[in-house]
Amino acid sequence: MPAIQVRHLSKKYQIYRRPGDKLLELLRPGRNQLHQEFWALEDVSFNVEPGETLGIIGQNGSGKSTLLQILAGIMRQTRGDCLVRGKVSALLELGCGFNPEFTGRENVFMNGAILGFDTPAMEQRFDAIARFAEIGDFMDQPVKTYSSGMFMRLAFSVAIHVDPDILLADEVLAVGDLVFQHRCMHRMNQLRAEGKTIIIVTHDLGAVTRFCDRALLLDQGRLLEEGRPDLVVQRYHALVFERERRYGGLDTVTSDQISADTTAVSGEIPVVHSIPNVDYRFGNGEAEVLGIELLDDKGNSSREVFGGQKVVVRVSARFMQDVDRPILGYTLRDRLGIEISACNTSYAGRLLPPARKGQIMTSDFCIKLPHLAAGSYSLSPAVARGNVLKHDMCDWIDNALVFNVRPEDLVYGMLKMNVEVQNYVGAVPEPLTTDH
Ligand SMILES: Nc1ncnc2c1ncn2[C@@H]1O[C@H](COP(=O)(O)OP(=O)(O)OP(=O)(O)O)[C@@H](O)[C@H]1O
Ligand SMILES: [Mg+2]
Repeated sequence: MPAIQVRHLSKKYQIYRRPGDKLLELLRPGRNQLHQEFWALEDVSFNVEPGETLGIIGQNGSGKSTLLQILAGIMRQTRGDCLVRGKVSALLELGCGFNPEFTGRENVFMNGAILGFDTPAMEQRFDAIARFAEIGDFMDQPVKTYSSGMFMRLAFSVAIHVDPDILLADEVLAVGDLVFQHRCMHRMNQLRAEGKTIIIVTHDLGAVTRFCDRALLLDQGRLLEEGRPDLVVQRYHALVFERERRYGGLDTVTSDQISADTTAVSGEIPVVHSIPNVDYRFGNGEAEVLGIELLDDKGNSSREVFGGQKVVVRVSARFMQDVDRPILGYTLRDRLGIEISACNTSYAGRLLPPARKGQIMTSDFCIKLPHLAAGSYSLSPAVARGNVLKHDMCDWIDNALVFNVRPEDLVYGMLKMNVEVQNYVGAVPEPLTTDH
C-alpha cells in the first residue's frame, strides 16, 4: 500500500492587488470581487511507496512548497485527495511550527509535544538533538535571534529525532553550511537505510540524481514528468533551456569567437553516423548531431576501455542553416547519471569556423582516460551555437553511446587519482616494565 497517495490535487490561491483589498471585499459582500484566482497546483496525481526517496524539482513558483505543505497537513487543498499513511515530520521553508519568541530548547519540547512526545520522551532525545544541531549556547536564546542556517539546523535536528515514518524536507540542503550539509546527507542516508519514506524538494539537481529513487518535475502547478531522477533532471534542463531561448537571444559576438581557430581540414573529413541510443533529444534544429563514436588508439570503434587508455571521442554534426559560432562537444556520465566530465570546442579553445547551411563538421576529442571505477558510462553529444558562457542548443542527445570501463585496477570511489604517500613512523616504544 503506498505511503502517500495524491489524486487530482489542486490548490487555488486568492491574490489581492492591494493589502487592504481582502478586508474591503469582506466588508461589502456581493460587490465586485477584488481578488484574482491563481492555481498553484492543478490536477497533480502520484504515489509514493513506503521506503522510497522522492525528489521534487521545478522552477521558482512551480508549486513545490505548496504541495509539501498540503502533504504535511499544514494547508488544505482546493480539490482532489491526499492520503498520507504514517507519522509525518516536516521540515518546511517557513515556520516548521517554531515560535520565534521562545528559546530553542522550549521550541524543541513544544515541537515534540505537537508530534505526540511528552516531556520525558523529549528529555531522552534532547541531548542527541542538541549535539546534531550544534548551535551551542543559542539553544537558550529566543529563536528570533537565530540566523536562517541555525534555525534550519535545529528544525532539521528535531525532525529527524522524532522517529518519523515520512520525512518531508523543503530546501534544507540550501541553508546549512558545508559541514552541516554533509551531516544532513549522512543522516538522510541512514533514514533511507532504515526504510523511511523521504520527499525532498530541492534546486540541487545533483543531489536528486545521487540520492533519490524517483523524481517529479512540477511546472506551473502541473506534473510534467515523473520517473528516473536522471531523466527527470534532463527534462528539467531542456525546459529551462527552452525558456531561456524564448526569453532572449544570445549575446553579441565576443572577440574570442571572431578569430575562429580553423584547424578544420577542407575536402575529405572523417564523419561518424552512428547514434546507438537516444534517451532524450532536444534542440532548436539549426544543426543535428550525425553521430558519435569512441575510438581506441588504433582508430577502431570501441565499447570497452580501461583506465589510462588513450581514446578519441568523435562527434559529427550537420548544419541545417548558417550557424555563426558553432560548438561541438560531449558530456561523460556514469551509470547513475552523474556528470563526470564534459568538453566542447569552445571550452577547449579550439573554435570552429562559422558553419554554412548543409555543411558537416567533425571534432575529435583526444583523451587519456583517468582511472575510472569499472562499470558502464555514457556519452551525450551536442552541437550548439554561441560560446561557453551562453549558447543556444541546436541538438543534444542524451546517453547516445554507452561504453564499459574494464576493471583493471582496484578503484575506490569514482576514480583513482595519482597520490604520493609520505609516511612518518615514530620510534618503537620501550617495552613497559611491570613491577609487582
Ligand atoms: N499564500 C499564497 N497566496 C497567494 N499565492 C501564493 C501563496 N503561496 C504561494 N503562492 C503562489 O503559488 C505559486 C507556487 O508557490 P510555491 O511556493 O509552491 O512555489 P515553489 O515551487 O516552492 O517555488 P520556489 O522554488 O521559489 O520555492 C507561486 O506562484 C506563488 O506566488
Ligand atoms: Mg518553495
